[in-house]
Amino acid sequence: MHLPDLNEARKRTNQEVLEKEVDYNFSKAFLNKKYFLRTYGCQMNMHDSEEIRKYLELLGFTETSVLEDSDLVVLNTCAIRENAHEKVFGYLGRCKHLKREKPELIIAIGGCMSQEEGVTKEIKEKHPYVDIVFGTHNISELPKLLLEKKAEQKKQDIEVYSMEGDIYENIQYSRDSKITAWVNIMYGCDKFCTYCIVPYTRGKQRSRRLENIIKEVEELKKAGYKEVTLLGQNVNAYGKDLEEGYDFKDLLERVAKTGIERVRFVTSHPWDFTEEMIDVIAKYDNIMPYIHLPLQSGSDRILKLMGRRYTKAEYLKLFQSIKEKIPNVAITTDIIVGFPNETEEDFLETLDVVNTCQFDSAFTFIYSPREGTPASKIKDNVTIEEKEERLQRLNELVNHYSLEKNKRLEGSIVPVLILGENEKDKNKVYGYTDTMKLINITEGHDLIGKIVPVKVTEAKSFSLDGEIVK
Ligand code: 5AD
Ligand code: SF4
Repeated sequence: MHLPDLNEARKRTNQEVLEKEVDYNFSKAFLNKKYFLRTYGCQMNMHDSEEIRKYLELLGFTETSVLEDSDLVVLNTCAIRENAHEKVFGYLGRCKHLKREKPELIIAIGGCMSQEEGVTKEIKEKHPYVDIVFGTHNISELPKLLLEKKAEQKKQDIEVYSMEGDIYENIQYSRDSKITAWVNIMYGCDKFCTYCIVPYTRGKQRSRRLENIIKEVEELKKAGYKEVTLLGQNVNAYGKDLEEGYDFKDLLERVAKTGIERVRFVTSHPWDFTEEMIDVIAKYDNIMPYIHLPLQSGSDRILKLMGRRYTKAEYLKLFQSIKEKIPNVAITTDIIVGFPNETEEDFLETLDVVNTCQFDSAFTFIYSPREGTPASKIKDNVTIEEKEERLQRLNELVNHYSLEKNKRLEGSIVPVLILGENEKDKNKVYGYTDTMKLINITEGHDLIGKIVPVKVTEAKSFSLDGEIVK
């Protein structure tokens, strides 16, 4: 039993980051057993689920998409906002019910929620039917925990470590796609934005060595992958924690030079985004003209309280520079409304940035206090009704620009990487444009995995319709 500790999670030392190896030497003890895996949260979590899936396959499990058919349920959780919690605890209710009918069912919880002191305590006290809790730092221990569970019939085992974290270089993944792949370039985060739980759930910033990342991209290319997305909480800060002297622009350039057809990256932080990085993105045709650039707020006062380290003017300057240097670039963003004591004037500053930037799309959120973060201690005088009203006004404006941006594409021809059949309409396929817009296409099943020119026939707020140019 090992429980998370907020004070440990908060700590940042100069301790060396260790490169460790996952031990894949375990038996197929679960042959003929089925697992059900549910993933919440960001791309980082989805990629972690690809690691989890590999361990489960190596243990002999096969996947099922039907909860009731499973012998093992794994919930890979997110902690970013309160509603992520609610979803998981809601789902746990279903699992608990199933376990009453099927007592041998194993229930395991991993991911960012497990890293929270309060959550783990709640599971320990109120959810004894949960068998295993593991964290973001010890995903590779899951096989061991499952094997112990099987052998000893232990009751509940909680193994979560609050630590700065290490790097594993021999991780195997069972990837969701054979066309696009995620590649971790760094783990953790040291920015400590005052509202954000991530630096506590995922440890300190640890960049992978450039040569290891390039090797992974080259292997993916050889295996036929068309696109890689470089993943990090803060990709523009890549390399700052290493002594090698290279940074994100150097990495991007090297990845582009592997010749893989499409290169993407998430997430950017305006603070670390340099002009040289913009130049590299502009220079290489295989680095996609799409940037997710979280704004969070347009008010200097709120930005300061959030610890974002830039002003509205600095954000706009960076935005303009990206627009000028990268032809045809699409820029999306994240915005939080209702940060503690946000005034109507503060909020109007946010709307002003949205009007100026006219983002291709934006993810918008109501501020959610996260236990242990500095912002959660601020006494807030904004009512939930006001926050909801602001969110609605913001969404109306954001959706207006999304539709307008998409409408401009009607009639034009865009390059699309076709990813697969449309789940709802088997006559269609879907893919993404270079600017990361989802497009549904009539026919084209023989073109899955290829990048082809597509004519945009209709634009909606959140997707496009198109047809293959023959
Ligand atoms: N409340 C609301 N939104 C949040 N985000 C991060 N932390 C919080 C929080 N406590 C949003 C930010 C971030 C995105 C991933 O989630 O906008 O960019
Ligand atoms: Fe991803 Fe952050 Fe959610 Fe963790 S808390 S899953 S890092 S979005």
